[in-house]
Amino acid sequence: MATIVVGVTGGVAAFKAPIVVRECQRAGHDVYVAATRASLDFVGRSTWEGITSRPVAVDIAGEGRAEHVELARVADLIIVVPATANSLARLAAGFADDMVSLTVLASDAPVVVAPAMHSNMWLAPATQANVKTLRERGVHVIEPASGALGSGDSGVGRLPEPEEIARVALELLEANNRASSALAGRTIVVTAGGTREPIDPVRFLGNQSSGRQGLAIASAAARAGASVRVIAANIESALLEALPTGVQVTRVGSALQMREATIDQVTDADALVMTAAVADFRPEATSESKMKKDPSTDDAPTIRLVRNPDILAEIGHSDKRPPLVVGFAAETGTDEEILAYGADKAARKGADFICLNRVGESVGFGDVPNDIRLLDASGHITGRYVGSKDEVAAGLVGHMASFLDNLKR
Ligand code: CTP
Repeated sequence: MATIVVGVTGGVAAFKAPIVVRECQRAGHDVYVAATRASLDFVGRSTWEGITSRPVAVDIAGEGRAEHVELARVADLIIVVPATANSLARLAAGFADDMVSLTVLASDAPVVVAPAMHSNMWLAPATQANVKTLRERGVHVIEPASGALGSGDSGVGRLPEPEEIARVALELLEANNRASSALAGRTIVVTAGGTREPIDPVRFLGNQSSGRQGLAIASAAARAGASVRVIAANIESALLEALPTGVQVTRVGSALQMREATIDQVTDADALVMTAAVADFRPEATSESKMKKDPSTDDAPTIRLVRNPDILAEIGHSDKRPPLVVGFAAETGTDEEILAYGADKAARKGADFICLNRVGESVGFGDVPNDIRLLDASGHITGRYVGSKDEVAAGLVGHMASFLDNLKR
């Protein structure tokens, strides 16, 4: 039995929300209702209290600080039904001055939102932008249906049938429960960020990697019950601090430091995920003092580079390798070319699969979703995940869990 919070906002479709509550109760779950003040003009307190046998949460002020977030804390799932255009905007902006938006903001439970409004409001660029923001954050926004609207017009914007809303929400709850234990008992090492190869005490050769994709994978693995170790090369502290509690972080600078830390940490791990952008070369020598210009000449110094060890290849081919080794590759070219590069990389580096990300031509950058294909050494595509970094991470983690489950323990 799960605890479900149904959040009701002030639209004419609110009269269908009690059926969503009933469906959740019929499936054996414990339901609380949080309502905005405006919604009580459509469905009153006595209806909610009658069907849930408990007070409906409306007031924020005067109820004591802890109670404000109590519903958010106990919720295993939140369903906002109906969601007006106004409430979508408030959820997207992170408001917390009514019980529905506050509960969504303060909870880490999955959220399903069922919008209902006039077509013009649904199709307005502002509403569409809010829906996009919510979806990027992992909120499941159900598409409204088409048909007769409260205003007498007809078009898109109708609340889908309440039984359908409950079905979608309960499926999500079940998928979430399955995912939250998929990697229980496993240890996963994730390298992330970009290495910096020192030239002198103040200069280095580096790259642009932020480490975000690696941290999204680490977070998804932790949420799936794994014990997670991150080896972080030059990642902003704020990003590392946002990792779920319990994720162990080792900070490194250069490729050689990353190699040492990774070899040390994978010995008893079930999987290694190498998302880090490791520099292929480093300066042959690092000056101990800051290098100075010679004022008597315009000559520039020559920095000789030497190859760095390939960490993925070394671990992938080692007889002490973890049962699952995953590499990353960002490639440019035609589909055929990048698939060939990816398969070759998996074979060359001893990886069970390579997460192949096509870059360039506006794929993989900015707000364009990531498009990752999992490729094994024989060139078979064993999975494809498109979406935000979190969505891709969740897909990859699910794939890793089934790979490990299919191995003989
Ligand atoms: N990698 C590594 N050690 C290195 C370089 C790369 O472990 N010295 C890992 C990366 O973390 C990534 C994978 O290898 O998981 C692919 O890296 P990439 O730079 O694309 O591979 P290269 O062999 O350098 O191929 P290319 O010739 O395309 O640069």
